[in-house]
Amino acid sequence: MKRKSVILLTLAIVLIGFLAWRFIRPMNIFVVDDRFAWPIDTSQTPPVLGKLGATECAACHQDFYEEWQTTIHAQAWTDPYFQTDWQFDDAQHSCRLCHTPLDRQLPRKVLGYRDKDKWDPVLADNPGFDPKLQHEGVTCAACHYREGKIVGVLGTRDAPHPVQQLQDPNQVCVRCHVVEGDRWDTFFRFPPCGTVAEIESSLAATPDKQDIAYLLKLMEENETDVGIDAGSAPETLRQTLAPAGNSGEIIAGDTRALGCVQCHMPMVMRPLVAGGVERMTRRHLWRGGHDPDMVRKALTIEFIEAEQIENNQRRFRLTLANTGAAHYVPTGTPDRHLTVHLRLLDGQGRVLDEQTHTIKRTVMWRPFIVDLWDTRLPRWQPRHYELIVADGSETVKVEAEVRYHLLAEARRQRIGYDNETPINYMVFNKQIPLRAGIPHDIQGAGDD
Ligand code: HEC
Ligand code: HEC
Ligand code: HEC
Ligand code: HEC
Ligand code: HEC
Repeated sequence: MKRKSVILLTLAIVLIGFLAWRFIRPMNIFVVDDRFAWPIDTSQTPPVLGKLGATECAACHQDFYEEWQTTIHAQAWTDPYFQTDWQFDDAQHSCRLCHTPLDRQLPRKVLGYRDKDKWDPVLADNPGFDPKLQHEGVTCAACHYREGKIVGVLGTRDAPHPVQQLQDPNQVCVRCHVVEGDRWDTFFRFPPCGTVAEIESSLAATPDKQDIAYLLKLMEENETDVGIDAGSAPETLRQTLAPAGNSGEIIAGDTRALGCVQCHMPMVMRPLVAGGVERMTRRHLWRGGHDPDMVRKALTIEFIEAEQIENNQRRFRLTLANTGAAHYVPTGTPDRHLTVHLRLLDGQGRVLDEQTHTIKRTVMWRPFIVDLWDTRLPRWQPRHYELIVADGSETVKVEAEVRYHLLAEARRQRIGYDNETPINYMVFNKQIPLRAGIPHDIQGAGDD
């Protein structure tokens, strides 16, 4: 009896100790895998590429430089949201490996790792450190420089720098846009930034035929400008993506199926250098959550009054679907989310009642990392929300609004991010006045 209680007590102490440790230990939510564990070695840079700075490439590729400068890639280091979050997270070295991946962008060299998980790097001063290049974040060379050559898909022979041809442009993206989390203590459905896994799952899924027919009709009515050259219809998508037997299965490593550049780098005919041959090139735009127009391209939205009036109640329905992005909307860090607001308004525009829904991936981080729920929008799966106006209500108008959030206000405060640009914005707003008889739409979608 006594021995038994000693054993039980010991077990309880061990368990409590273990859980306590899980709550205080530093949290590594992803795995530092070999894909990005080592900075890009630039020791063989040919003299024509100078210090590998974007302005040096701009001397010949001006248009590409001007586009890149407007993007979040150019701000991957200086972005105040990144800087705040990084410092809040103890300024871990591993973050630099994607936000500033070239060896010259790092104040300290990575000589090796002390631990298996590669969270504890052996660092040494880096005499080649170039602070100006560090400020360029995901600069031209981060994507284009490999082992003394410039990689690209055209296979040109007219460049003054060595060139190596890539089979597929999407190969470039996966270095940083796959953040894996496969460890004994993680229970993710998708890795922490699951963009690639989400695309794979949406390819494997068989969307409902009726849903697709309905959404394609809505897209036509809304004149949705998908503005992308891949996968604008599920058929095209499936054909491009599943060449072998249409099973929907992707062969691991076949990045062609991912379509990142098809959607994020629209095509344009232009010369690579002033006065050069015109070629089919891709614009260096990479729009995403920071750009309201891009987010609107991902979504097909309808807000209407349901036809029949039941029990003297009027019913309104908001339909929201991801028709423009192959991954979930939103994708990337789990902080990004959408909110849906359905409001009853009185004659003065005051809110009488409001329903709010959050479209977000919710992860439990401690003591174990577990995907709790995920209400984000997979492609081709419409989501419906209903708003009911009871008989005798003072409601004069109903309103639906959809907003995009880079991060939640509570998290903004917790990490101390003093934002100068908005952390959330409207992507859809429509009001429908309640008049006796036939309902009547007054305002189109998407205007501020
Ligand atoms: C002195 C001028 C010059 C500089 C500097 C220069 N390039 Fe080029 N680059 C060219 C020319 C010329 C071509 C070939 C144009 C053509 O074939 O139409 C080219 C081709 C390319 C290609 C296409 C390769 C392919 O086959 O797909 C890429 C990508 C590229 N450059 C990137 C860069 C980057 C990144 C930098 C800076 C690190 C850079 N270039 C610096 C002149 C330059
Ligand atoms: C060297 C690492 C790296 C590579 C390679 C890379 N990215 Fe990124 N990407 C980033 C980082 C880091 C951010 C976030 C920057 C920030 O806000 O701090 C980002 C952000 C983005 C965004 C989000 C824009 C927004 O407004 O939210 C898109 C879209 C994107 N990348 C697309 C691509 C595509 C397509 C490719 C391949 C052609 C690619 N990236 C290659 C690191 C990379
Ligand atoms: C996030 C990754 C990324 C960054 C950063 C980047 N590029 Fe590119 N770039 C690509 C990809 C992918 C392609 C291939 C597009 C395609 O399929 O033609 C490309 C193609 C090119 C080409 C050949 C034309 C074409 O579209 O194929 C040139 C020239 C070029 N880039 C120059 C630059 C310059 C200059 C910078 C910096 C100012 C830069 N790139 C930054 C990913 C990147
Ligand atoms: C069929 C078109 C399509 C394909 C394919 C696609 N994207 Fe996107 N992506 C979009 C659209 C539209 C948005 C804007 C909606 C949004 O912000 O979620 C977006 C947003 C993003 C964002 C911003 C995060 C967010 O949700 O706000 C990132 C990062 C991104 N994409 C990366 C990628 C990468 C990496 C790939 C390839 C592995 C890829 N995308 C493939 C259309 C696409
Ligand atoms: C494997 C590459 C990789 C590593 C390592 C990495 N990031 Fe990122 N980070 C990205 C990419 C790609 C994006 C853009 C897509 C997204 O929003 O998830 C991004 C986006 C972000 C954003 C959102 C920026 C914005 O303006 O929307 C923050 C904040 C951020 N990272 C912080 C960190 C911190 C802190 C670390 C280290 C703990 C880190 N990252 C490590 C690739 C990486």
